[in-house]
Amino acid sequence: MSDKPEKFIDEKGLRLDGRRVNEIRPMKMEIGVLSRADGSCYLEWGKNKVLAAVYGPRELHPRRLQKADSALIRYRYNMAAFSVEDRIRPGPSRRSIEISKVSREAFEPVVLTHLYPGAVIDVFAEVLQADAGTRTAAINAASMALADAGIPMKGLVSACAVGKVDGQLVLDLNKPEDNYGDADIPMAMTSEGEITLLQMDGDVTQEEFKQAVELCKEGCRQILEIQKETLKNKFTKLEEVEVSD
Ligand code: CDP
Repeated sequence: MSDKPEKFIDEKGLRLDGRRVNEIRPMKMEIGVLSRADGSCYLEWGKNKVLAAVYGPRELHPRRLQKADSALIRYRYNMAAFSVEDRIRPGPSRRSIEISKVSREAFEPVVLTHLYPGAVIDVFAEVLQADAGTRTAAINAASMALADAGIPMKGLVSACAVGKVDGQLVLDLNKPEDNYGDADIPMAMTSEGEITLLQMDGDVTQEEFKQAVELCKEGCRQILEIQKETLKNKFTKLEEVEVSD
């Protein structure tokens, strides 16, 4: 028997979790949570829990993999075995390899890799608890871990999905919307709104697609504010420590 809800949006315009169509789930994050990584971030978004760690830039071995004119970015998205209801088999899967590839590509236009020829920047995103939207949650955390590592970037990357349920576009899909909705369009973008990741599952019209991009921009703007606030808080605290020293 399917658990598909009869309706995803009620007559007041509220979704199953009480949000409006243009609202993201509550998000909080903390940077600098891992002492051995150069940069790190722990992020909670709705019921998603993700940890991102960044190592580098450091010399890439074996040297034959080095790029003469830029750093190589490696990105590993991984779901912990205990992150979903059915245990995830450890090791890479088709899904995690695909997500790792598109997520790496989401950062390549933004990270100033030409400053570090021959180097590698490793990004690890570990999903500890999954509840729809983990690739976008991981990108938001990875973006913060890169900033925490002091990696020069044109700006932060923010990511969110837009979907379609009950004939309406909705921002930041929850689990039932993700499972039973008519479309799922995850996107990542720069602070200027340039899209660096775009995937689509399901059907939308051309007009809906344009609206979906605008709705996603609105979501990414909200996320960017949380990201900037998190960075500001850390550096204000550091300044306070320096002053009191
Ligand atoms: O997580 P995201 O939305 O980026 O990717 P998805 O492939 O659309 O997966 C949607 C959700 O399905 C995940 O967030 C998990 O909650 C769940 N999932 C799962 O239970 N088992 C898997 N092997 C993969 C995903």
